[in-house]
This record gives sequence, C-alpha cells and structure tokens, in this order.
Amino acid sequence: MRILAIETSCDETAVCVLEAGGSFGPDFRFRVLGNALLSQASLHTQYGGVFPNLAKREHAKNLTPLLELALKNADLFQVAEFDISNYRGALEKILVREPEMRDALFDLLVHHAKPAIDAIAVTSGPGLEPALWMGVNFARALATAWNMSLVAINHMEGHMVVSMMDKSGLADFAFPALALLISGGHTELVLAKEPMHYKILGATRDDAAGEAFDKVARLLGLPYPGGPEISRLAAEAREKHLPSDIKLPRPMMREDNFDFSFAGLKTAVRRIVETHAPLSEDTRLAIAREFEDAAADVLVGKTLRAVDAYGVNTIVVGGGVSANEYIRLRLAEALAQAGHTAKLLISPPELSTDNAIMIALAGYFRAQRQEFADPATLRPDGNLRLAV
Ligand code: KG4
Ligand code: ZN
Repeated sequence: MRILAIETSCDETAVCVLEAGGSFGPDFRFRVLGNALLSQASLHTQYGGVFPNLAKREHAKNLTPLLELALKNADLFQVAEFDISNYRGALEKILVREPEMRDALFDLLVHHAKPAIDAIAVTSGPGLEPALWMGVNFARALATAWNMSLVAINHMEGHMVVSMMDKSGLADFAFPALALLISGGHTELVLAKEPMHYKILGATRDDAAGEAFDKVARLLGLPYPGGPEISRLAAEAREKHLPSDIKLPRPMMREDNFDFSFAGLKTAVRRIVETHAPLSEDTRLAIAREFEDAAADVLVGKTLRAVDAYGVNTIVVGGGVSANEYIRLRLAEALAQAGHTAKLLISPPELSTDNAIMIALAGYFRAQRQEFADPATLRPDGNLRLAV
C-alpha cells in the first residue's frame, strides 16, 4: 500500500510518500519513496516561539511545492492532463479561505496524472489549529480530486509509532509498551497493551517538556527552538566541569503519580536570571546544564516509576525532546542501573522531531484497520487526545 502523508501541526511543513506492507508484526515492511520537509523555525525565531498565523501562511504557501517534491522523489509525478471539472465545486468549497493554496494546487492537479497512491494520511491534531487546518484542507482536497481514502492521524501516535521502527520494519519488541512522548506541545506517559490501543497514565499539568526548553532558552537569550541550544550549552558546561551553585527544583519527581509540571522550572530559571543579571557566559552554561539535569531527572524518574508500576516489556520514547542526547543517555543508564530488562526504543534524532514519515506509518496501520475519515467533513482538533 502506498500512503501519501501530510503534517502541518506546528512549524514543520512535511509531505512524504511511503510504501508499506504486512500487519503490525514481524512481517511489516516499509520504504520511504519520497520525503519533503520545510522547517519554519528560523522564521519564528524573532517571536521566541511559534507564531500560529505565520505558521498557517507558510504551510499554505509551501504545501503544493512540497507535494510536488515528494511525488517527484517517489517518481510519481507524471505530466498529463487531469480533469477536475467534476470536483471543482467541492474543491473550491474546501479551499475557499485559501485562494493562493487553491490556485497553486489546481495548477498542479490539472497538469499531472493521478499518482499511484492508495490513501492519504493527515495530522488532524493535536497542535496549533490554524496550522492543522492547512494540512487537513489540503489533504481533503487531494482525497476529493483523486478520489482516494483519507486517514486522520493523531500526531502523538505518529511520534510513538515511528519510534517503534527500525530501518525497514518494526523493531524487535514485545507489548505491553510504555511510551514517553515529549514534544513542544505535549508531555505524556502512555501505556499500550497492544498495537494502536492506548491508555494515558499521566501528562503535564502546565508546560510541555519542549516548551520548557524553548522558554528557558529564551530567558537565556538563545534562539528558538531552544532544545538543541540548551543541550549544546549544557554539554559545554559538563565538558568544562564548570563549578556552580545554581540549583533548580525537580517538580513532582517524588509524587506518586505519572504527571509532570515544568512551569515552575521556568519560573525558577527566570528568578536566577534576574538575580544574576547581567549573566556571565559561565552562569548561562551552568543554568543550561542544571535545567537539562532537572528535566532529565524528572522525565527519567517518572518513566521508571511507570515501568515499575506496569511491568512493561518495552519503553518507547518519541517527540522532539527525545532528540536530546543527554536524556537518551540518562534513560538508558537509569534502566540499566535499576536492572530493568525492558527494551528501550527511540527513533533516530532526525525522526524524533516533526516529519511526515511518522504520519504515514501511523496512517498505514489506521488504513489497514479501515479507519477512514470523510473528506467532506474532516476537521482538525487542536486538543485531540490519544485516548480518553
Ligand atoms: O515533536 P516536535 O518536533 O514538535 C511538536 O510536536 O511540538 O518537538 C519540538 C520540540 C521543541 O520544543 C524543541 O525545542 C524540542 O522539541 N527539541 C529538543 C531537542 N530538539 C528538539 N529538546 C531538547 N533537546 C533537543 N535536542
Ligand atoms: Zn511533534
């Protein structure tokens, strides 16, 4: 089965074509035929975070060129006349608020043959709603014009599923699995007793882990996205064995639940920044190290608590923050130290942050289950949950 996937939940516009076969087991195989991704991060830097309306405009502008690129990569972009007259009214309606996207997409559609693709998968939530709308409407229009099945995907499921893969199939692991999902918008511990069935064990009560990295980075005068920047400074501080008396709290670490809280950490950093202003370079490095340590302590502590409570066979870590090398290392060390034999699965860093491949993978499994969405009525949901 060939899946075209579209992701626009935050500040990455991504389109890919994936070929996959088999069921959720050892016979599953996949191959990325075409992949196109454009990060808007540099545009949002001046705002210190993602500015939703700018993200929306950029998605609208970039989706059609990225679709073309992904189809070309996949060798599925064939010049031919294609008649959309039967669907023009429906397409106009779907894209009525995005005249530029409509014009660009119509131009592509009428000059190219319907590609050999079986289904279209799109992120329908959670995320920034104005941004999600662009991908969803684009996917609805494509599914209508090409008369293809449409699958609505939960972005967090995408992060989880891609971390369960190796290069061309599923990693060798057993359920039940515990997923630690840590992104810019979400922080969740999720239990999967079997494929594609979830129970949320805990979540953040305020800021997400990635959001905390981004906000602390901003306080330190570092550009967005803050995760990689903090990580770079923290690594430098560790390398230099920088002495420091900077101490941050470990919010909720010892509480007997699976929830997180990161807002207090950010406030504590703000106070330190204020009392030490103007910050010396060494103090900046020390704050970055202590913040990364605090975030890692809390994430590792809560994950281990859940591993103990649920006796899982596998721990899956996904989302942009799981690109963090130090957190990866700390998790692996802590599991080994506690004598846990659960297998730790984390996607390669380039697939930890947002991309369309993760949406295509989840899309394939949802399509296999015949879980299709109606292109006439699909709407995004910024607060979409993995489970109730
Ligand atoms: O999953 P993602 O790409 O987008 C969302 O779904 O939100 O995650 C983005 C988040 C940002 O907050 C970014 O600062 C963080 O992931 N991030 C990192 C690292 N790379 C990205 N955080 C810590 N360390 C990193 N190396
Ligand atoms: Zn994400």
